[in-house]
Amino acid sequence: MSGLPTSDAAALVSSLSAAAALSIRDVAKSYGAVEALRGVSLDVPNGELICFLGPSGCGKTTLLRIVAGLEEVDRGRILLDGRDLSPIPARQRNFGMVFQSYSLFPNRTAARNVAYGLECRGIDKPNMKQRVADMLALVQLTDQADKLPAQMSGGQQQRVALARALAIDPAVLLLDEPLSALDARVREELRIEIRALQQRLGITTVMVTHDQEEALAIADRIVVMSQGLVEQTGTPRELYETPATAFVAGFVGLMNILPVTQRSDGALEFAGTVLTSGAVSAAQARLVAIRPEAVAIETKPGPGLPARIAQMTYLGNLTRFIAVPDAAPGYSVTIELHAGHQPLAIGTQIGLRFPAASLRVLA
Ligand SMILES: Nc1ncnc2c1ncn2[C@@H]1O[C@H](COP(=O)(O)OP(=O)(O)OP(=O)(O)O)[C@@H](O)[C@H]1O
Ligand SMILES: [Mg+2]
Repeated sequence: MSGLPTSDAAALVSSLSAAAALSIRDVAKSYGAVEALRGVSLDVPNGELICFLGPSGCGKTTLLRIVAGLEEVDRGRILLDGRDLSPIPARQRNFGMVFQSYSLFPNRTAARNVAYGLECRGIDKPNMKQRVADMLALVQLTDQADKLPAQMSGGQQQRVALARALAIDPAVLLLDEPLSALDARVREELRIEIRALQQRLGITTVMVTHDQEEALAIADRIVVMSQGLVEQTGTPRELYETPATAFVAGFVGLMNILPVTQRSDGALEFAGTVLTSGAVSAAQARLVAIRPEAVAIETKPGPGLPARIAQMTYLGNLTRFIAVPDAAPGYSVTIELHAGHQPLAIGTQIGLRFPAASLRVLA
């Protein structure tokens, strides 16, 4: 994106119409006995990039297709800038869409793929040519204009798909796992480009992913979905630091979730060790969560929950250990130590400490 001269860029940005605010109101959808969506509500402000994140089958694609008008609702409404979209068919919603893969027309060149939506709208030839050139420049594919999809890499094909979606000057951009077919490095490059482009154009964007790292990296806000419902909505930081449920805690980043018992004085105990100093106000706390990087370890005898290192994964910048508490062999605690920490062999006896400030009591 950085390759575009700034004057062209400014002209292009101003040529795109102002983005719009999207509202999803109590949307429900069943397929026979399968309740794909069970009442989902959500507001996406103008210019925001929001990610639907959740496991396979939780309803992400169904919700995106409903927003696009490709699927009918059983109940609920989709509003754009306060206007009810239900009477408006998909073709007239002016939404740009990019799918997981293989969505380009195989017998059209990159340029003619980008031109597709413009042809459908009957744009005249000179304007169309200019628009296609602008869009290919925007995704840095000017030199690939005459290639067929089969002659391009996966990353280049998805750039063409993005250019095609943006060419029609969409009110909202809808992306359904646009990066999941790409290898890790290209995926990361392209997600940075998508984010930069989205911010520059200020276009309201909904992106579906089941990759939590991708969602954390790209989104203004994330909607964590599970079984047709919204579990939690928040910024990446909010979800990571203050997950509302065990599901969110376990789905966004790695999380240790430990069963606790609450003593009569209110303190929480796991495997015979008091985890918190003082009473915890949450009534009937049963689970606590702590991130792997927040668990502290002692290699000398002393306080802490006695445990043994059972597994080690060397990841370069950090090493991930799995420790099994002596008093609770059915549980494991994941710990992450940064590079430079002393090596710990499998079988080493350690003491685990759970800093109270890093412990979250889950509902
Ligand atoms: N056309 C359909 N007919 C019948 N069932 C469907 C249809 N589309 C989706 N479903 C069901 O609805 C549920 C939600 O599907 P959806 O495709 O929205 O999930 P998803 O979150 O996008 O999953 P994935 O990450 O695997 O793409 C699933 O149980 C799925 O089997
Ligand atoms: Mg899907």
